[in-house]
Amino acid sequence: MSRARISIDRNFTIGEVPRRLFGSFVEHMGRCVYTGIYEPGHPEADEQGYRQDVLGLVRELGATVVRYPGGNFVSGYNWEDGVGPIDQRPTRLDGAWHTVETNAFGLHEFVDWSRKAGVEIMEAINLGTRGVDAARELVEYANHPGGTYLSDLRAKNGHKDPFNIKLWCLGNELDGPWQTGHKTADEYGRLAQEAARAMRYVDPDLELVACGSSSSSMPTFGAWEQTVLGHAYDEVDYVSLHAYYQEDEGDAESFLASAVDMDYFIESVVATADAVRARGKHKKFINLSFDEWNVWYQRGLDTDDQPAAVARAGWREHPRVIEDKYNVTDAVVVGTLLNSLLRHGDRVSIANQAQLVNVIAPIMAEENGPAWRQTIFHPFARMAALAKGRIMRTAVDSDKYATTRFGDADLVDVSVTWDEEAGKVALFLANRGLEEAADVEVSLGGFDAGQVTRSEVLQVPEGRDRFAINSQADGEQVGLAPLSGVKAVGSELRLTLPALSWAVVEVEVSKA
Ligand code: AHR
Repeated sequence: MSRARISIDRNFTIGEVPRRLFGSFVEHMGRCVYTGIYEPGHPEADEQGYRQDVLGLVRELGATVVRYPGGNFVSGYNWEDGVGPIDQRPTRLDGAWHTVETNAFGLHEFVDWSRKAGVEIMEAINLGTRGVDAARELVEYANHPGGTYLSDLRAKNGHKDPFNIKLWCLGNELDGPWQTGHKTADEYGRLAQEAARAMRYVDPDLELVACGSSSSSMPTFGAWEQTVLGHAYDEVDYVSLHAYYQEDEGDAESFLASAVDMDYFIESVVATADAVRARGKHKKFINLSFDEWNVWYQRGLDTDDQPAAVARAGWREHPRVIEDKYNVTDAVVVGTLLNSLLRHGDRVSIANQAQLVNVIAPIMAEENGPAWRQTIFHPFARMAALAKGRIMRTAVDSDKYATTRFGDADLVDVSVTWDEEAGKVALFLANRGLEEAADVEVSLGGFDAGQVTRSEVLQVPEGRDRFAINSQADGEQVGLAPLSGVKAVGSELRLTLPALSWAVVEVEVSKA
């Protein structure tokens, strides 16, 4: 049995939980839109073609903000193709994912879907093949009340009232050589600056995200952020980060410590943004938008849904692309990545798990078939529901284990929130130990613990191994079960985390 001692104190809080931390992402990619959220003709489709089984799961997941329409897709996308009568919209080739795009689903459809799902929209503009003009026109189309050509066109196309989209991404991953219209940091920084200005001339109330690095391993990481913010610091509010993790053959230990890399990435971008702030004598802070993150098996899979195989198969409408099947280990890692985001909630204001349905997603949906929760659904849904109020500073004294990629890492990982109104503290815990359970003591400084109102665990199911998944054939075998034996006495909590597990514990608290 390993041991960990976690200490929090009523007086040591980091800030409010940013609700936008529980964001997701819908890209025109694979089957995320078509046969994912939208499938006219499906038995569960409503009158607009939205799958209600999927909408139900999206609400249960608790996503708060959804980024759209890409991703790599947006860097070659004409937003005009996706508005107006559906039968008059052009069919185009999407080079990013080697797919035939019918444009049957576009901005109006996404706005309507978002309202049904109860999520805020985070709209990305194309700064790959397009620029300032298309950006300002899209803002006018979406947000201007009326009386101009574009706002009247929106009304003619079915939405008299403006969409009032506040949050915008200035392009996608333009540091990446794979991106359509890839740019140098100087080229992108200037373009983002000018696009931002022109967009704000139309609507001054926008919140704008500049592209940061596509991962912390990009050769330009650090320098990119410095140069881009050097140009556009005054014009933007956030800088983006993207990161995907996977288990490499024989190195589960490093994979389980992926959040160590996420911590490093976040702290490095904060330091870079603050250095630009100091150098430019700026007053405001630039916060972070971690607008793509997840587990994604990019290496080592040889399946028909891998991008190279999809391209070899020729041009098709909504082929299966990167439909990763997530196991127990992946869910534990997702829980720790959420912990990292929450622990940095004073500077990470927005985060979007990529993606929402079918494509590296917590929700799967078969064409003309059922929808179900992947393993990674559970930590996200619980945290989105229970992480409320303030983020607590945590001091963790945990036994450690060795990893090849990230040195020694804590076996027990945690984030904690305190909802003062509800009088509850919620702890989100993971045990990275593959073999050993962990004995955990929590000191709730300044609080008296009352009743434990929730204690649940996601672990390897009885008789299965850590590669257990949920699937259409086998059903939802991996889910949350009660975590027994959680004890609260005075200002102390004691619990045992099974080997390789993710858990949530919620306890009533009063002032000590
Ligand atoms: O989410 C899948 C892809 O990953 C996105 O299109 C792109 O932005 C990133 O590289």
